[in-house]
Amino acid sequence: MTDTRQSIYRDVAQYYAEKLQAHGETPQGVDWNGVEGQTVRFAQLAQVITAPAYTINDIGCGYGAMYEFLAPNPALQQYIGIDIAAEMIEAGQRRYANNAQLTFVHGSTPLTPATYSVASGIFNVRLGRNDAEWWEYMTGVLDVMHQYSTHGFSFNCLTSYSDAEKMRDYLYYTDPCRLFDYCKRHYSRNVALLHDYGLYEFTMIVRK
Ligand SMILES: C[S@@+](CC[C@H](N)C(=O)[O-])C[C@H]1O[C@@H](n2cnc3c(N)ncnc32)[C@H](O)[C@@H]1O
Repeated sequence: MTDTRQSIYRDVAQYYAEKLQAHGETPQGVDWNGVEGQTVRFAQLAQVITAPAYTINDIGCGYGAMYEFLAPNPALQQYIGIDIAAEMIEAGQRRYANNAQLTFVHGSTPLTPATYSVASGIFNVRLGRNDAEWWEYMTGVLDVMHQYSTHGFSFNCLTSYSDAEKMRDYLYYTDPCRLFDYCKRHYSRNVALLHDYGLYEFTMIVRK
């Protein structure tokens, strides 16, 4: 792993560990404004799912909130939550201690491929990294999602079409058209860009 990547993981993990400590297992504890936005994001990401039975790697799972969104549908076989913040993984393990449908992994890479991989909110907080560093980092993580998904993956990013007065330096705003092109060229012919759900972000769906 490169030094840049390692230092990103360290800084980002610390950022989110502090959020969890301040707000507990709540949307604010993973730096969202509230449960409504968190759930809207899950609904977008879940559009990648079409298989009648599936397993899922949730990269940047936080305390595992997406499991609760997916669990009512019996198609879900196994949920694997992966997070670079040890505190998030411990929270998830405690929260679902007696539920064999979930596994939590501390780190950035799944242990095995799943039917799908999803990532909600992992490309937003860049702290001090410049545009070129963050793009390289982000596409490196997407390569991992591609590698560890047999049927497809989905993720969200803050959009470069956000209102200028609301934008913050420590956040990264992705050009959705550039990323759409990147996903088409590198991962699959079947890519959907969802940019119509009322948040300052978009979701990319990559079907294999
Ligand atoms: C905005 S929070 C969202 C948590 C969860 N996905 C949700 O929506 O409730 C992002 C989480 O991703 C984790 N994270 C950020 N980058 C990551 C990476 N490259 N690999 C794994 N986890 C990451 C952070 O530690 C944090 O817990």
